Amino acid sequence: MSQSISNQYLNELGEQFGTPLYIYHGEKIREQWLKLKQAFSGNNTVFFYACKALTNINILKYIRSLGANIDCSSIYEGRLALHAGFAPNQILYTSNGISFSEIEEAKNLGLIINIDSLSNLKKFGQKFGSSYPVGVRLRPNIMAGGNLKISTGHDKSKFGIPVTQIDQVLEIVRQYGLLVHDLHIHTGSEIKDAHIFVKGIEVLFDIVPQFNDLKFIDLGGGFKVSYKQGDIETDISLLASEVGKAFASHPNPGGRPLQVWFEPGKFLVSESGYFLTTVNVVKETPGACFVSVDSGFNHLIRPMFYDAYHHIDNISNPEGPFRKYTVVGNICETDTFAWDREINEVREEDHLVFRNAGAYGFEMSSNFNSRLRPAEVLVLDGRPQLIRKRETFQDLLRNQLEVL
Ligand code: LLP
Repeated sequence: MSQSISNQYLNELGEQFGTPLYIYHGEKIREQWLKLKQAFSGNNTVFFYACKALTNINILKYIRSLGANIDCSSIYEGRLALHAGFAPNQILYTSNGISFSEIEEAKNLGLIINIDSLSNLKKFGQKFGSSYPVGVRLRPNIMAGGNLKISTGHDKSKFGIPVTQIDQVLEIVRQYGLLVHDLHIHTGSEIKDAHIFVKGIEVLFDIVPQFNDLKFIDLGGGFKVSYKQGDIETDISLLASEVGKAFASHPNPGGRPLQVWFEPGKFLVSESGYFLTTVNVVKETPGACFVSVDSGFNHLIRPMFYDAYHHIDNISNPEGPFRKYTVVGNICETDTFAWDREINEVREEDHLVFRNAGAYGFEMSSNFNSRLRPAEVLVLDGRPQLIRKRETFQDLLRNQLEVL
């Protein structure tokens, strides 16, 4: 049976730790991890957790304990990964648009590096030549993903070196004798169709024979999870068999087997997360009944930023009659979480929970309106532990220098 935390327990956690509160369920992360491992057990595959989804250090340590590697998008994520105990050769640093000095820092830390521009690839060649292996992030010119804001592989996207510029990549590789160990693509987030990954493989296989030192093909992340009842999620077993078939039907260069890498973020942590809030105000108006919770897009930006759907339950009144509400926050800007949503009757001080909030929830939070960021709790082996303290007023002033 799928792992979840009961409404009653969520209410207890709300009483114990206060709201707004992010709650993560360790066993659910494990369940998702095992789904991946089992589906790909017959394939030569390694998973790097895309930690941009959620970087609490305890989550990183827990995911490491499961046996995953880690994918980082900034040098600070790389340093957090080292702090969490990942070995440098388990840390993939897939950068974009960064200064060469950050690439040098990643190299000095011993991380695996994917470079996504011709200029940085050239600088890498000039400085390190063949002394350190490198990966190349390519843009496959494939349109995929849940919406344009999270699509990264299309021909207008800033990410990666367009495959159409492969001759220039090869020229730099030849000129500096670069050891290209991996080719990387990431077409977007929330890709439900397994065939998109096969399309990516086909694009890569056209150019693979030109890279003599290749060991890994990195297909990025982007597996879709179900946010809404009836939502289709990426069929992981189908993906594993399609990827297996695609590799079997392409001869490996020099007869050497290529290992496949994936970088799942949402898939591992999204469903493990619950965002718990308390209702401040119920405001009946002729146009709508507004429910204002003790939060806003400063804590969960996905609905406003991506029009993302998060299921909302009134866990204080689960038997109440359903009514339609517009759920909003307390931010001095429109911060609607849901329009005309059917929810069990809401009273002031009820707890509303936003489901599927583990990925890009806390991680994208801010102090807008000088409000404090929420606390985080990890539930593991039936035990809740505070893993991030709620901010205090002092945190708002911490890095400010009062010069007046
Ligand atoms: N690898 C690379 C290079 C990426 O850029 C990303 C996500 C991932 C892996 C992981 O993708 P995932 O498996 O989590 O879909 N904030 C947005 C999602 C942005 C994803 C950015 N890159 C959201 O909340 O929907």
